[in-house]
Amino acid sequence: MAKIVSLLPVYILLLISSFVLPVKSSDNMTDMYALLSFKSSIDGDPNGKLFSWNHSVHHCQWKGVVCGHRHPERVTALNLDSLQFIPEELGLLGRLKFLNLSENSLSGNIPSSISNCSKLEVLHIESNHIQGTIPSQLAQCRELTYISLRENSLLGIIPPSLGSIPAEIGRLTNLRILNIYETLLEGTIPLEIGKLSNLQWFDLSENMLSGEIPSTISNLTSLNGFLLGGNSFEGKIRMKLCNMKALEVLSLSSNKLTGAIPKEIMTLTSLSIAIDLSNNYLNSTIPHEIGKLKNVGIIILSDNRLLGEIPSSIDGCQVLESLYLGGNLLQGTIPLSMSNLKSLQKLNLSNNFFSGQIPELKDPF
Ligand SMILES: *[C@@H]1O[C@H](CO)[C@@H](O)[C@H](O)[C@H]1NC(C)=O
Ligand SMILES: *[C@@H]1O[C@H](CO)[C@@H](O)[C@H](O)[C@H]1NC(C)=O
Ligand SMILES: *[C@@H]1O[C@H](CO)[C@@H](O)[C@H](O)[C@H]1NC(C)=O
Ligand SMILES: *[C@@H]1O[C@H](CO)[C@@H](O)[C@H](O)[C@H]1NC(C)=O
Ligand SMILES: *[C@@H]1O[C@H](CO)[C@@H](O)[C@H](O)[C@H]1NC(C)=O
Ligand SMILES: *[C@@H]1O[C@H](CO)[C@@H](O)[C@H](O)[C@H]1NC(C)=O
Ligand SMILES: *[C@@H]1O[C@H](CO)[C@@H](O)[C@H](O)[C@H]1NC(C)=O
Repeated sequence: MAKIVSLLPVYILLLISSFVLPVKSSDNMTDMYALLSFKSSIDGDPNGKLFSWNHSVHHCQWKGVVCGHRHPERVTALNLDSLQFIPEELGLLGRLKFLNLSENSLSGNIPSSISNCSKLEVLHIESNHIQGTIPSQLAQCRELTYISLRENSLLGIIPPSLGSIPAEIGRLTNLRILNIYETLLEGTIPLEIGKLSNLQWFDLSENMLSGEIPSTISNLTSLNGFLLGGNSFEGKIRMKLCNMKALEVLSLSSNKLTGAIPKEIMTLTSLSIAIDLSNNYLNSTIPHEIGKLKNVGIIILSDNRLLGEIPSSIDGCQVLESLYLGGNLLQGTIPLSMSNLKSLQKLNLSNNFFSGQIPELKDPF
């Protein structure tokens, strides 16, 4: 009798576990199956890079796979190299937070199934040969804080769903870093970009973007870096730059911008790294306020149609190291005050119409 009693808990335990286990194991196998399906879709793993993805060890120990703490069987990060395309099966990894597929030889599209990775926070797909459009479904990954797609051949437009349908924009407001330089992007920047209010770094340099720079950019008050160089943006610089109080680097170089250099740019004391407006069609004078850029290291205004004289207030730029004003229509004498620029190391004033003497600067150039 005692024996039966003592067996009872074991029996109950077995009974419970026979209900509980299958549920639990199918749950904890989900990502293992997803990874195997991912592997099988890449056609026999030609480079043997997923060789370690086999049953000899737990899937969380497979090369490039990281699992979570709270859900120890769920894949939270993937770091893969030597892939040639992104399998649709990526969408099966519902707990994925970090995906690094940079420096692979990826071609084809970003699968729209990426929208299934609703926990995705960081997406690195830079330095590949990804083509086609950025899937608008990416906007459904509302936890995204970092997107880097630079150095690809993405054609087509920035999907309006990065900004246009309000419900979806609401979801991308966590985005802090948008890095899509040198990817053959064309079209315009949607106005809705102004809703990504947490954006800190916005780099769409070296693409084929055109149209006006949307004035809604001035809503992005957390922006540290705003880089649109090497596109075909046209029209005047209209955004309210005075709102962008965190801006450290501004590059609008090599576009087709016309009109004046806005005075407000020169009041952004946060600009500490660089301001580069070179190689446009800007045809105003250099605002007197330039001297307010007291923290900036590099000023590049070369190859525009700038008129008038160099403002003598320029000596307010106390930490200026490089000043490029070549290739404009500047005239008059070079202000004596420039000899106060103690940090200046590089100066290019060539191809202008200056007269008179060059003041004695810190070092002879
Ligand atoms: C599933 O869970 C069981 C029990 O917790 C564990 O023994 C097994 O290794 C897990 N399997 C996977 C693939 O995570
Ligand atoms: C499975 O992966 C391990 C490394 O995790 C490797 O040592 C082993 O040779 C692989 N087995 C097969 C059959 O591929
Ligand atoms: C998206 O996730 C669901 C389960 O959450 C799954 O059934 C579906 O197949 C996934 N879609 C893709 C394209 O991976
Ligand atoms: C992503 O992977 C590339 C190539 O394997 C590596 O060089 C890079 O450091 C990784 N980036 C991050 C943020 O882990
Ligand atoms: C500016 O940002 C606020 C929220 O920070 C948002 O409500 C508003 O719609 C944005 N304006 C534009 C023009 O994007
Ligand atoms: C600058 O160029 C525009 C045409 O792009 C012209 O309308 C304007 O008068 C010019 N301004 C100056 C000061 O030359
Ligand atoms: C100086 O500026 C002009 C006009 O931008 C440019 O053509 C020239 O190459 C520059 N010189 C040097 C030495 O960089």
